[in-house]
Amino acid sequence: MTMNNNASFPSGFVWGAATAAYQVEGAASEDGRKDSIWDTFSRVPGAVVNGDNGDIACDHYHRMDDDVALMKSLNLGSYRFSTSWARIRPDGGPVNAAGLDFYSRLTDSLLEAGIQPWLTLYHWDLPQALQDQGGWANRDTAYRFADYALSVHDVLGDRVTAWTTLNEPWCSAYVGYASGEHAPGLQDRKLAVAANHHLLLAHGLAVQALKGRDPGLDTGLTLNFTVADPADPQNPDDVDAARRIDGQFNRMFADPVFHGKYPEDVVADLAPYGFESHVQDGDLAVISSPIDFLGVNYYHGDAFTKTPPTAPLTTAAPSARPTASPYPAADGIHAVRRGLPQTNMGWEIQPEGLRRLLNRLQRDYTGPAGVPLYITENGAAFDDDVVADGTVQDLDRLDFIRSHLAAVQDAVADGVDVRGYFAWSLMDNFEWAWGYAKRFGIVHVDYETLQRTPKASARWYAEAAAANALPA
Ligand code: NOJ
Repeated sequence: MTMNNNASFPSGFVWGAATAAYQVEGAASEDGRKDSIWDTFSRVPGAVVNGDNGDIACDHYHRMDDDVALMKSLNLGSYRFSTSWARIRPDGGPVNAAGLDFYSRLTDSLLEAGIQPWLTLYHWDLPQALQDQGGWANRDTAYRFADYALSVHDVLGDRVTAWTTLNEPWCSAYVGYASGEHAPGLQDRKLAVAANHHLLLAHGLAVQALKGRDPGLDTGLTLNFTVADPADPQNPDDVDAARRIDGQFNRMFADPVFHGKYPEDVVADLAPYGFESHVQDGDLAVISSPIDFLGVNYYHGDAFTKTPPTAPLTTAAPSARPTASPYPAADGIHAVRRGLPQTNMGWEIQPEGLRRLLNRLQRDYTGPAGVPLYITENGAAFDDDVVADGTVQDLDRLDFIRSHLAAVQDAVADGVDVRGYFAWSLMDNFEWAWGYAKRFGIVHVDYETLQRTPKASARWYAEAAAANALPA
């Protein structure tokens, strides 16, 4: 494959940046908002590094107008944000108009600035009231999600055209219910496999509800993908290790959405946890309701083996609560380092993996369905985030974004239909179990003063967005 470094992006390519409600908004108990599972989980001693929480976060709720002006100054064409279910239906039931009003004002403000709102309905902050009834392990939550989707559409449907149901359901199911690193912090594989199915059912029900309301909407789903390679491609055990991770992480979500069936090998591995008992007649037809785009979150791939490493590798947050494996279908499998440079999360930097991933997704899923791809998240945490002389010279991050955008160009040159890229993240924010200890923003946030400072990566990104090409 030849590398393609200077070409422009396709015309109309979307240059965006992303955030999520709990990570940036703050205002945790204002205007009728009640606890989500992340409010509750953040209070569990040892669950989040430094005992951090999202009570204030970036205070985006109060600084929204300034933040939109900042986005405009960075030439963003689109802003990917999520709505907080706990603001909109604080008890999981009746609608709180004041909660919806914030998103209505945000939408107006974006449109006025010429920025397309790219809305995600669920980015991990389930109302605690629904968790108290079993959360995603309870099938009823899927139906509540479709009701919630419609209540958001009631108010924003006239102005928002891009509707994403879920962000990274793999994390919600397996990091929330199996490893326990994320809210609700459970370690129960039976609940995790139930959550896996019910999240996908929720996605399908919401797509049907939204399309039933307005067939012209663009609806989609954001999945997190890994590129699972065998540590030694000649070793059949390593090849099997990579297949299992790919199955549990990638195929278990993309197959039902695009092919209307779960992958048989993974279903067999999940049988001890009762996976199939949750799948009812007709569910897969709902889950595979046609969508209009696939959102791709890509951070890194890994090489996998069954040979136990001498020193176990973990990139989980150093929680005081021990975490378990998030891979019930892949016990005894280890990720190994290949000597690639790493981000501050300990994730290997592997832009060529993105090119391969995009080609594979189009071949196996989106191409036959005639659906375009958008990179809905890509980015990196690094240590070079110090404000000196009023600037942040985050050259590592700049280089990360540049190399991944070049990989997108390569994929486009290969013939893959990629229509946009959203940097994760617009600004430093609450990085889940890591709290504020990891900074992913292209804009620096001073958590004492809440002052925003665009980093070198943001300036560079603004130039790229304006030119629809990579600056030299
Ligand atoms: C994916 C998640 O969607 C986002 O919330 C998170 O901050 C980034 N990954 C970085 O870990």
